[in-house]
Amino acid sequence: MQTSVQTDRSPSFALLHWYDAHARVLPWRSAPGAPPPDPYRVWLSEVMLQQTTVAAVQPYFARFVARWPTVAALAAADEADVMAAWAGLGYYSRARNLIACAREVARLGGFPDDEVGLRALPGLGAYTAAAVAAIAFGRAAVVVDANVERVVARLFAITDPLPTSRPAIRAAAATITPDVRPGDFAQAMMDLGATICTARNPRCLLCPLRGPCRAEAAGLAASLPAKLAKKAKPQRTGHAWWIERDGKVWLVRRPGKGMLGGMRALPDDGWSARADGDATPPFAGNWRKGGVVRHGFTHFDLDLQLMLCDGAEIGKPWHDDAAGEFWPVATIDAAGLPTVFAKAAQLALAER
Ligand code: ADE
Repeated sequence: MQTSVQTDRSPSFALLHWYDAHARVLPWRSAPGAPPPDPYRVWLSEVMLQQTTVAAVQPYFARFVARWPTVAALAAADEADVMAAWAGLGYYSRARNLIACAREVARLGGFPDDEVGLRALPGLGAYTAAAVAAIAFGRAAVVVDANVERVVARLFAITDPLPTSRPAIRAAAATITPDVRPGDFAQAMMDLGATICTARNPRCLLCPLRGPCRAEAAGLAASLPAKLAKKAKPQRTGHAWWIERDGKVWLVRRPGKGMLGGMRALPDDGWSARADGDATPPFAGNWRKGGVVRHGFTHFDLDLQLMLCDGAEIGKPWHDDAAGEFWPVATIDAAGLPTVFAKAAQLALAER
């Protein structure tokens, strides 16, 4: 791997100097220049931070480390408890991989301490392996997330659009990654991207990399990185069923693989592309329409029509106790529903 030699004129030197004064204080971090943090906390935070903001992750991180303070504790956890604790963070395959990874690390007796070993763990992609190697083990790994991509595209004035420019950005990032304090360097790049070199209105006057920044010199900073136009997301529709009896609502557990796999949920009719109107309720009854939940997933937008039914008509044999449970409505917040169903539950509660 090509990494840079640090001199007092190199971007990494200027950036680390800036980081010493401006690092964000975050619960999974060490202070600038301090020994690395616990690899478990680094790994957990990096998995949570994929596709999710620092602000959204912080309360989840605090709850996870309070409940499962070590990787061994997480490895021994009940899978359903971990899935429920993850509810609301989205991208639920991350939670399934988290458990598999914790179990593998417990079996190995600890985290591998380099990128190659980390990459072999369940669910660790190139980014996470590099981030953990740099931050927890001081390896000079090239850590490139979306913030870093933006900083590097500007610093080197890489004008080709993303994602085509990804290999060039990575190669450019490698040329400035230092052998000293690589974990601090990686996090300094992230902090610079989050606070100064922001997507809109970058604050170039405050930037420690202003001198060497080619985009700033060319007046291009705000327009980089260029991005290929995104395809419009398809729209899907579906129905979710709110089946209430004696103050309890029927919840199912979604099948292990696939969308929201392993999560507790309201029953639904699959989210096909069909228009509203051809709902097939789980049983004949006095169904009424509730509101519509709009939710954006990565690859499609969903309009979920809530349908409500309550009262005496609900009984056996339409449901199978092995497939779900009646859950007290008063404690629905503790059911660990993913956001789309938590929104549906809020609608149902407002409409009862
Ligand atoms: N995003 C991903 N990893 C991060 C980290 N370690 N600190 C801040 N933001 C991040």
